Amino acid sequence: KSIVLFASGSGSNVENIVNYFENNSNVTIAGVLTNKRDAKVIDRCNRLKINALYFNRQAFYGSDCVLEIVRSFNPDLIVLAGFLWKMPNNILENFPEKIVNIHPALLPKYGGKGMFGMNVHKAVRENNDVETGITIHYVNENYDEGAIIYQAKTIVLPDDSPEMIAEKVHKLEYEHYPSTLEKLLAPKT
Ligand code: GRF
Repeated sequence: KSIVLFASGSGSNVENIVNYFENNSNVTIAGVLTNKRDAKVIDRCNRLKINALYFNRQAFYGSDCVLEIVRSFNPDLIVLAGFLWKMPNNILENFPEKIVNIHPALLPKYGGKGMFGMNVHKAVRENNDVETGITIHYVNENYDEGAIIYQAKTIVLPDDSPEMIAEKVHKLEYEHYPSTLEKLLAPKT
């Protein structure tokens, strides 16, 4: 089985997923694609000896170039880990039910355009929510709206800052994203 990852930022989830599957000979990380030339995830990939490929907006939305690269890896899953651009239709159409994202909140709360990273945790803080969490879901043509695969929750304390909430949520991501992917890749019985 093989996974292609998309990331735009730090890539701590990418690193965690790579480490998780390192000792699983049934799952290969075929490569990491990024839309940010200077994303920290590229340094991580160099260190982890994983292919990292950069693409620009034109290649993604104006050609089949990224689609063809993904196809060449023949992935069983396409995994978004902090990837901030909307998936174009050509990729969505060619990989139905195979594209998965993680969102740092309990969708349908705090989803949609502009709701990423610290924006989400600040909104949770401002609304005085008593819990937050992660949502792993399939990707469709709308931000954060595909079918939900898995959610996990954590408590928000009255004194938690957005940064502290972010840390709790990241911990949940590290704990649950790779194992959920592993389940999705397991042969159906
Ligand atoms: C994560 O919080 C993820 O839920 C969100 O973007 C963040 C990525 O963090 N979609 P990192 O780049 O994996 O460190």
